[in-house]
Amino acid sequence: METFDWKNMPFGYTMTDYNIRCYYRNGQWGEVEISSSEFINMHMAATCLHYGQEAFEGLKAFRGKDNRIRIFRWKNNAMRMQDSALGIKMAVVPDELFKKAVFTAVKLNEKFVPPYGTGATLYIRPLLIGTGAEVGVKPASEYMFMVFVTPVGPYFREGFKPVDIMVCRSFDRAAPLGTGCYKVGGNYAASLASLDLAHREGFSTALYLDPKEKKYIDEAGPANFFAIRGNTYITPASKSILPSITNMCLEQLCRDMGLTVERRPVAFDELPTFDEVGACGTAAVITPIRKIVDPDTHQIYEYCCDGKPGKVSTMLYNKLISIQNGDEPDIHGWVELVD
Ligand code: PLP
Ligand code: COI
Repeated sequence: METFDWKNMPFGYTMTDYNIRCYYRNGQWGEVEISSSEFINMHMAATCLHYGQEAFEGLKAFRGKDNRIRIFRWKNNAMRMQDSALGIKMAVVPDELFKKAVFTAVKLNEKFVPPYGTGATLYIRPLLIGTGAEVGVKPASEYMFMVFVTPVGPYFREGFKPVDIMVCRSFDRAAPLGTGCYKVGGNYAASLASLDLAHREGFSTALYLDPKEKKYIDEAGPANFFAIRGNTYITPASKSILPSITNMCLEQLCRDMGLTVERRPVAFDELPTFDEVGACGTAAVITPIRKIVDPDTHQIYEYCCDGKPGKVSTMLYNKLISIQNGDEPDIHGWVELVD
């Protein structure tokens, strides 16, 4: 196994040995190819460069106490990439191709899967881009699908510690009927200015409101938002947020624990009524939120009064990572071993 300072890994890129590539030409996908180059060669008129024809995914592989490697919910990522592809008119990557590319990339880079108990994981990044040359605004006829992996630590440097976030009204990351529900690069480009502003003001991320009325909560940077009120888990239903796979897991875990789950529009005005709030995602895992600061009204919403994550968030976090690491039975069939 590689030796890194596993306990202090940033959420950043570290070179690994191999990546996977596959090309879509003449209406069909070719064979999966293995590469050890970090670079790709493409036409300067490729549609991904000019018209944003690109979609990506993010999933993780975990090393268990038994030293075996588990990949978490790959099928949901495959399905979401198919939705993204259809949403911006790209060739669709079938489940089998997605699985083969992901599992081969992990297997070939086995030594980069961080050791059990370090908090670090292997982040898997599938990427689909339009490579065909076009100058008119239209979908490409050629595509490239790639998968690279890289060992990472938690997205928010604090790990499972509460963070402060800032309400963002001066930017939208997605339009009401736009592409916010797809994992496409344009949404992330649209979020950079607001994230930069939040970081410069000393916050971990920006809290986006619904782009139409600014009345409802949408997302917390690159993660979904959830709140706990009494025995209820509440999370926004919105057409402009990414359907988070982590959030789906938390909803299921809440039902398993006997909590009520509400997925519905969540009014910004409800913030003072919540006991706990947090952000969730593959990279963010569960990140408890300590303070939400509204720079326009100077209102501050505080949670975790003793500086510690709330009870329900802690329970959910422990349960989720135990399943991912293989410490608890995987009753929902979320993990698949890499052999
Ligand atoms: N929202 C956005 C905008 C994201 O980029 C992500 C990350 O993938 C999420 C939410 C969380 O989704 P998931 O739990 O599937 O990683
Ligand atoms: C993820 O959670 O996998 C993400 O894609 C978030 C991000 C780093 C864009």
